[in-house]
Amino acid sequence: MTEILITGNQGQLGRAVERLAAKRGLSVSGSDLDSLDITNAFQVEQWIATHQPRTVINCAAFTAVDDCETKEDEAESINGTAVGYLAEACHGCGARLIHVSTDYVFDGTKTTPYVESDPTEPTSAYGRTKLAGERLAASVPDHVIVRTAWLYGLGGRNFVEAIRRQIDGGAKELKVVADQHGCPTFCDDLATALLDLAKVEAHGIIHAVNSGDTTWHGFASEVARILGSSIPIEAVTTQAFLRPAPRPAYSVLDTTRLQTLRGRPMPTWQDALARYLQS
Ligand SMILES: NC(=O)c1ccc[n+]([C@@H]2O[C@H](COP(=O)([O-])OP(=O)(O)OC[C@H]3O[C@@H](n4cnc5c(N)ncnc54)[C@H](OP(=O)(O)O)[C@@H]3O)[C@@H](O)[C@H]2O)c1
Repeated sequence: MTEILITGNQGQLGRAVERLAAKRGLSVSGSDLDSLDITNAFQVEQWIATHQPRTVINCAAFTAVDDCETKEDEAESINGTAVGYLAEACHGCGARLIHVSTDYVFDGTKTTPYVESDPTEPTSAYGRTKLAGERLAASVPDHVIVRTAWLYGLGGRNFVEAIRRQIDGGAKELKVVADQHGCPTFCDDLATALLDLAKVEAHGIIHAVNSGDTTWHGFASEVARILGSSIPIEAVTTQAFLRPAPRPAYSVLDTTRLQTLRGRPMPTWQDALARYLQS
């Protein structure tokens, strides 16, 4: 029997979950689009029935936020409908589904951290499709929906690497948005939390991000500082840097529930970033 199955194991989070599960000595098996397309209900059912896992951690997703605006049907089938296939297959063999979701299910109009019970109101196609996935995950009793945010991890295409690339490429200055607030989160810390949640009696929605919050500008400034760069970083507004998909202005997540379940807080985002950049 495989204890943990992971979808999207070539993505930045899936890789971290697989590596850290193996390090804990768990029997783990992962797949990605080349071996299992989660939008294929038959493949999903066969894969889960064959492995008879205790837990399935769904890290697969259509994550290109701006592309979702023009490919909402494709995004919906991966981020929404396919989660229903995973949920049904898990239910069929008594496995727990841990499904990863996003802060983009919120509209960002709050000014204090979002708790799990706050009303959702996505403003982007990505957020709508991820919310559809949450609802399908919640259609079976043994589910956990873990909302996270602003992820970066080893081997991933992410904001930290984009800043590092520009610094290494000799950019003279950077312009970074300073009016969106969120929680940068290291995939290794999130993966550790997901594996801990697989062990405890927990159901429903749980917010999991590194502690503290900042803006993209604050995040970029900390990347530069740790890399020893004095590159000027100009603070710009969202309006000056318009993208196809709207982003929430404030999507800080409250992690009290996670902290209670695990008995310890998540590391701060600054500590996590330093560990990532040194690894
Ligand atoms: N990245 C963030 O900042 C962020 C923030 C909040 C929440 N999240 C959520 O966190 C989770 C992990 O994100 P991530 O950053 O690790 O994403 P990622 O690096 O883009 O990894 C997602 C993986 O899923 C694969 N995939 C796509 N369609 C698939 C399908 N039909 N069947 C099987 N696999 C498929 C992708 O393959 P291809 O690359 O070949 O498409 C990729 O390997 C997702 O649920 C995401 O929505 C991410």
